[in-house]
Amino acid sequence: MPTIERGQLSKSAVQRVGLALQRVVWSRRASSWDEMSNPGLERVISELVDYVGDRPDATAIDLGCGSGQLSIPLAAHVKEVVAVDIAPKMVELLDEKLRRLGVSNVKAAVGSVQELGLGDASVQLVVSNYVLHHLSDREKAAFVADAFRWLAPGGELVFGDMMFGRGGTAEDRKVIADKVKVLLAKGLGGWWRIAKNAVRYLFRIQEKPISLAAWVDLLKGAGYVDITSKRIVAEAAILCARKPA
Ligand SMILES: C[S@@+](CC[C@H](N)C(=O)[O-])C[C@H]1O[C@@H](n2cnc3c(N)ncnc32)[C@H](O)[C@@H]1O
Repeated sequence: MPTIERGQLSKSAVQRVGLALQRVVWSRRASSWDEMSNPGLERVISELVDYVGDRPDATAIDLGCGSGQLSIPLAAHVKEVVAVDIAPKMVELLDEKLRRLGVSNVKAAVGSVQELGLGDASVQLVVSNYVLHHLSDREKAAFVADAFRWLAPGGELVFGDMMFGRGGTAEDRKVIADKVKVLLAKGLGGWWRIAKNAVRYLFRIQEKPISLAAWVDLLKGAGYVDITSKRIVAEAAILCARKPA
């Protein structure tokens, strides 16, 4: 199984522990994530693929590809997808799926967003779905700058994720209230998830989403243009931004 890494890492101990934790957590969750059916997430993926449209000459990199939820449908519209995930088990599942489906233009590799060693101007598309909220705010800013370098002029960063802050705006409060309402209706299991998620969001453990507006500020600050966004379901939105040609 290939690994894509920068090699020369200057990670703090905290970052290394964080990455190791993600690797373990997602390797353990890989099979259940692979088998899960989630209409909301499917809508987000379908919006991302629709946005990209047909780009037969484009190489896309899918960060946090999981077992191919976005990489596989996207592969039908681009020349090639380089699919990267921190969890070896996810990459294993994706490789099996690619063999089973006979998809030959997706190359899967183990790697992390924070340690990717891609060449400057080497891809036309950087895509990702439901991954970036796992990065700390500092890592999000570094990622946005890295993706800018990896993109060829005119290339695009296109991603979906949960996008809301910790309740500072009316939009945040609406997203959080809607989420709580849905979980409350699920009974005991839902209440447990409310408690678990509240601790995670408040203390920024594992899940560290930021608002759509905060993402737009990061993208503008890194030099992207033509920034567009769309809220898809309560918490989830997609963002598209172009590196100037
Ligand atoms: C919520 S799942 C989303 C998977 C897939 N993109 C999808 O749409 O279903 C998050 C994925 O991100 C991966 N991941 C988490 N942190 C990562 C990181 N720092 N670098 C690369 N992948 C990461 C996990 O292993 C997991 O496969």
